[in-house]
Amino acid sequence: MLFMAKLDDRSARHDRFHQKAKKEGFLARAVYKLDEIDEQHKLFKPGQRVLDLGCAPGSWLQFARKKVGDRGVLVGLDRAPLGGDVGGARIVVGDVMSIDLKELKGDLPAFDVVLSDMAPDTSGIRSQDQARSEALFERALEIAVAVLAPGGNFVGKLFQGPDFKKLIEAVRARFETAKTAKPASSRQASIEQYVIGKGFKS
Ligand SMILES: C[S@@+](CC[C@H](N)C(=O)[O-])C[C@H]1O[C@@H](n2cnc3c(N)ncnc32)[C@H](O)[C@@H]1O
Repeated sequence: MLFMAKLDDRSARHDRFHQKAKKEGFLARAVYKLDEIDEQHKLFKPGQRVLDLGCAPGSWLQFARKKVGDRGVLVGLDRAPLGGDVGGARIVVGDVMSIDLKELKGDLPAFDVVLSDMAPDTSGIRSQDQARSEALFERALEIAVAVLAPGGNFVGKLFQGPDFKKLIEAVRARFETAKTAKPASSRQASIEQYVIGKGFKS
């Protein structure tokens, strides 16, 4: 009974955010995770340069465009191409593990915000999925440290696992503050969390 109740709860949540995204013209329900994180942590300012790692299908880019306005610059990276123009972002198709940072930066000297909503292809084996998520998170943090301007902000998705605390400490070592968030639109059954680093110390 409890299991069925959990399933019902999960599909109701899926429906609510999925339907809302459709109605409001966002490409994925994931937008409400970033919206809630931004509401709490104030990540963006108009005119900023934003790098979005694992950006497909593009709802975080749509949200970032609303926040940075026309003067802002958006760059997105994903293994999968996007369906079309999303928020006027420059899209790089490639694997984060092997991408050349020069290709991400283009003509920009630095970024103000680096986002990563990257998730591994899940195997169903918890320890394996956690390890893959940790590797993606570590790579996102490595890129953030390489491309952020002083004072910049970072958000990275991370499956909670044995190295969770260690990775939060790694963020704390490079940013003024490091916090975690579990947005309401992230399914309760999911082990995903977001780690937010604010105020990059170059
Ligand atoms: C949850 S989706 C991101 C959703 C996105 N934030 C949005 O709002 O539309 C995760 C994305 O990470 C990408 N991804 C996973 N591993 C990657 C890798 N090694 N390199 C680049 N992208 C990767 C996947 O292709 C997928 O599109």
